[in-house]
Formats: sequence, C-alpha cells, structure tokens
Amino acid sequence: MARDGAVYACQSCGAVQTKWSGQCPACGVWNSLVEEVQSRPPGSLAPSKSAKAVRGLAFEGLESENPTPPRIATGVDEFDRVCGGGVVPGSAILLGGDPGVGKSTLLLQVCASAALRGVSCAYISGEEAVEQIRGRAGRMGLAQAPVKLAAETGLRQILDGLKRDRFDLVIIDSIQTMWSDAHEAGPGSVTQVRSCAQELVRLAKKQGVAIILVGHVTKDGQIAGPRVVEHLVDAVLAFEGERGYPFRILRGAKNRFGATDEIGVFEMGDAGLREVRNPSALFLNDGGERAAGAAVFAGIEGSRPVLVEFQALVAPSAYGTPRRAVVGWDSGRLAMVLAVLEARCGLGFGDRDVYLNVAGGLRITEPAADLAAAAALASSALEAALPQDCVVFGEISLSGEVRPVSRMESRLKEAAKLGFGRALTPAAGLPDVSPVSINSASRLTDAIRRIGDQAWS
Ligand code: TYD
Ligand code: MG
Repeated sequence: MARDGAVYACQSCGAVQTKWSGQCPACGVWNSLVEEVQSRPPGSLAPSKSAKAVRGLAFEGLESENPTPPRIATGVDEFDRVCGGGVVPGSAILLGGDPGVGKSTLLLQVCASAALRGVSCAYISGEEAVEQIRGRAGRMGLAQAPVKLAAETGLRQILDGLKRDRFDLVIIDSIQTMWSDAHEAGPGSVTQVRSCAQELVRLAKKQGVAIILVGHVTKDGQIAGPRVVEHLVDAVLAFEGERGYPFRILRGAKNRFGATDEIGVFEMGDAGLREVRNPSALFLNDGGERAAGAAVFAGIEGSRPVLVEFQALVAPSAYGTPRRAVVGWDSGRLAMVLAVLEARCGLGFGDRDVYLNVAGGLRITEPAADLAAAAALASSALEAALPQDCVVFGEISLSGEVRPVSRMESRLKEAAKLGFGRALTPAAGLPDVSPVSINSASRLTDAIRRIGDQAWS
C-alpha cells in the first residue's frame, strides 16, 4: 500500500485499491475506480503528537443521568412513523431515492411542518438556488413556515454556520453536492461524500442536532457511490415511486431507533405530497367487477394492514420459451408458486406466458402473499373469478401446504373494515371469531379447487 499518494477508490462501493483496474475487484462494477489522493492508508493511526494527547478510554454505565431528549415530531405523520415515532435529536438520517422521486419536496414539507410546530429548522441546498426553493414552497402553500434556507455546497461554510446558529433539525440536500476543501477529489466522489458525511454526523452527535442527508440513488438502487454513508448514519430511508403512478412510498432500510418494516405512503400532487392515511383504499382497484386473474391480498406493511390487488394473466405462449414477467413481487417467489401449482395441483404453465402485477405500484415482500399470487394465477388459468368481496392470504410450502401467517386477525379486520365479506385463508392459526366468512384451505389443491368450482361460503 502506498503510504502517500494515489489510491483508487471505487465510486460504487467505496472499496480502495492500490492499483487501477477496469473492474472493481470488490463489487464487480466496471469503470468505477477513480484515482484519489489519500494521505494515510485507512486504518493506520497518526503518530500521537504528544504524550498528553493520549487519554485512554473512559468507561461509563448503561444508565444515563441525563434524561433522553424527546423525539422531534415533525407533524408529517407518515414520515414520523417510518422514523420510529419522530426524529431522534443528535441522529443522522440518510434519505435515498431516484432523482425526481420527490426527496426535496418531502423534506421541505417535513421541515416546514416541524418549523410551524416550533422546531428550529434549516434547509441547506447544494442543488437549487434559494429563489427556486422559495418558489416551490410558495406553490406548496408553505411560504409562511419559519424555515431558514441556504444554498451552499462548501462543507466548511456549512459547519461554521451550524456552529454559530443552533438548529434542532438540519436538511442537507444532497450529500453528493457537498464539498470539503480538505480533499482534492471532486464533489460526489467517494472521498468527498464520506468525509462530508462524517463531519456532518460528528456535528449532529456533538450538538444534538438531527441531520437528514439526501442521497441520490444509482441505476441499481444503491445509495449512490457511498454505501459507506449508510454505515455512518443511524437510519437509512428509501423514497420510492413507480413510474407513472402518483404514489410514493417511504421505507425504512435501517433504523437504530425503530423498526425497519414500517412504510409511509404519500401521493404526489400539484401542491406537493399528500399523506395517505388509508393506503388500502388507494391500492385497491375500486369499482367494477373483479375479473378473472385478480385476487385481493390482505397484507401487513410495518404495523399497518394494507389491502392490495394481485393481477395475473396466463396466456398461450407464441414462443418456445414462455415469458415470465412480474412487477411488484419477487420473480423467484413467482417461479416457486408456479412450480407448486404444476407439481401439486396439476395446473400446467409450461407452454403459457405468465404475467403478475401488484396494482398501485406497491412492492410486496411478505411470504403471506403466496396464496394471493397463486389464487390470481389459478383464477386466470381456470378463467374463474374470485368473489368480488374476498381477500386472500397464506404462505405456501414446497409440499403444497398452506401455512398460517402472522397477524391474521388484523388482516381479517382490515378486510371487514373495507367492506369485504369473505377470506381465503390457511386452515390453522385462525382467530376464534372472524369478522368475515372464512374459506380455509390446509393444502393449495383445496384452495384451487374452491376457485375452479366456485365453492364459496
Ligand atoms: P423533487 O422533490 O425535486 O425530487 P428529488 O429531490 O427527489 O430529485 O421532485 C421533483 C418532481 O416532483 C418533479 O418531477 C415535479 C414533481 N412535483 C409535483 O408533481 N408537485 C409538486 O408540488 C412538486 C413540488 C413537485
Ligand atoms: Mg432534489
């Protein structure tokens, strides 16, 4: 390792190499190694200047004498819930998302809402001029909020400013535009992003300020360049939206102060983002008959039940290799469900194209959705629609069993609340009383037979 001089940092994963190569040996991305000047190899300690500088470790107990400061509730409930019930003072949050998904819009709204509740907020943008941010705030009806704005990319100026004026909440939009004069590398490079993030996180801890860093996301969905930043911060939130849909979903990917399976749902409109408090109504294809191939899944996202429609189309294939396309669900999981339907239920898909879509742009990861996907597929293959008022949930095993899933009572209650009258469910683990009529199946064949024979109670 060169002591002083050039090293090559991967702009995708942050790994540092001593030799340049066309492909990063750590993450396999091509053309991502960029020369950066590194004064000291990572991990080595600078020689201590004097004996006085060495103080050793001071240990402390678990119990704190100072009461922990309360979380900052920003008033944007969908955001607060994903953070674990508000923003923790002194914490650093990274908000990642595709360009244009609405990160700046969301944070301006969060900032304005918090400021109107008496939280002192600063919004520092390295991407837009102050006038642009003002214009956007005006369109969103937030011009009255006492938010302090600044357009700045110099880290030194920002740190000085934040040391002079104390804030409770600071937004940095975005970390890729920030630039520290301690390094020669350009803005957005791994060295810059890492060192700017480090300095800002240090300031957050020291002053008890909550800092939210905006991070752009690369094509493959990673927070751009610096995955290293993900390790520095206390929480990583992802802001997602499916192209062509107004819905935006805020998801926790890492959270030292709360659960990570919580989602916040928003709808992008002319006046910014609107919080969606009842997502089920949004994701359901309302009105009209439910066609063959559709099944409503009663899912759980974080702490909330969410109903969403699975749509399948099974059609004769014109090609030798039939197509398998899936949106909003895992393609490996689809392959498994198709295999179980073939092997255990006698439904053949070998010469048929299969398309599966989760309506509304939501991405489902729960295994409980297996039975809903299977029901939608079987319904399309058999051309037999499920009843209009039926929800579905259950996990499917390779042996063709339908397994119980978590929180079945909440799923049934949500279904009843939204006017559904029956449910296709696993046979085991059901609550004693159900608000809807239960059509249970312990094996997938029983469930498929019910769909084919239209035998519903
Ligand atoms: P923005 O917050 O700038 O995205 P990001 O910071 O993630 O890059 O949002 C940009 C998009 O949002 C842009 O395409 C316009 C749209 N938008 C609305 O539809 N309504 C609005 O009120 C605002 C402010 C933006
Ligand atoms: Mg932006």
